[in-house]
Amino acid sequence: MDSISIFSPATVANVSCGFDALGFAINAVGDEMTFKKTVKKEIKITKIEGAVLPKDIKKNAASVVALAMLNKTKADFGLEIELIKKVKPGSGLGSSASSSAGAAFAVNQLLGKPFSKLELTEFARIGEEIACGSPIADNVASAIYGGFILVKSYEPLEIVKLPVPEELYVTVIHPQIEIKTEHARSVLKPVISIADAVKQSANLGGLISGLYTNDYQLISRSLVDVIAEPYRKILIPHFDKIKHAGIESGALGVGISGSGPALFSLCKGEAIANDVAKAFDSVYSKTNIDFKIYISKINTEGIKIVEN
Ligand code: HSE
Repeated sequence: MDSISIFSPATVANVSCGFDALGFAINAVGDEMTFKKTVKKEIKITKIEGAVLPKDIKKNAASVVALAMLNKTKADFGLEIELIKKVKPGSGLGSSASSSAGAAFAVNQLLGKPFSKLELTEFARIGEEIACGSPIADNVASAIYGGFILVKSYEPLEIVKLPVPEELYVTVIHPQIEIKTEHARSVLKPVISIADAVKQSANLGGLISGLYTNDYQLISRSLVDVIAEPYRKILIPHFDKIKHAGIESGALGVGISGSGPALFSLCKGEAIANDVAKAFDSVYSKTNIDFKIYISKINTEGIKIVEN
């Protein structure tokens, strides 16, 4: 294989109760990326569309990951990379993760698939560190594994793939403002109380149990975040109104997607997901902030090959 084009999905990290530990991929939006082998042993980013990102290969999340993989395998080829970004940087929808995980997946294919999904997640974390200052695994693992994932441990890295209830839909609203992950992490408290740790871990357990048992009401009661949402919601205009409108329209829960500003809601069935989208639309239509809304099933396959 000399060339590969892929679709690398947007992802929703944290899912309210699983800060840095839980995430899922969505179908509705994702980046398109092409990787071509070259005889010359160097990496070049030949095209970036849809976002202003560095072409310097030591600063771009995709090329940093690709470089680490070519170095690790002492590959006898170089690469030309094209990025068509549909997942906007600073959206909370895993933009850097889509680039990092996409590069890990694609380069693995060009190398003849020497690496496992877990190893690809490790490589992709290098891109996350370059792009957001921390080697967070929740978004990249969601893109690589597809479906719902749990980062069970960071050291050593352990990823658990979780089941996806059949009728689960997600509605996302993405206000067109940018929040840098680094900033959204800096507003969090470095220490939490035992009471909050108990609440958060109990809700995480509840959500995972709900996913295994298709218990939508348990999922709903578990979509609570006492660690990040109270401190991050002030960065997102009209957060409370959106949350209220989503819940009133039947959403199982509404929370911040990753580090925001995108907000996600999980819904039972497409009809409710559509109602929630209308409710989100009616809140933001009254503001002067542009926004996009996505309605999607959970993406259970992760990154996929588009053409060779
Ligand atoms: N878990 C990370 C955070 C995701 O919330 O900071 C970043 O998108």
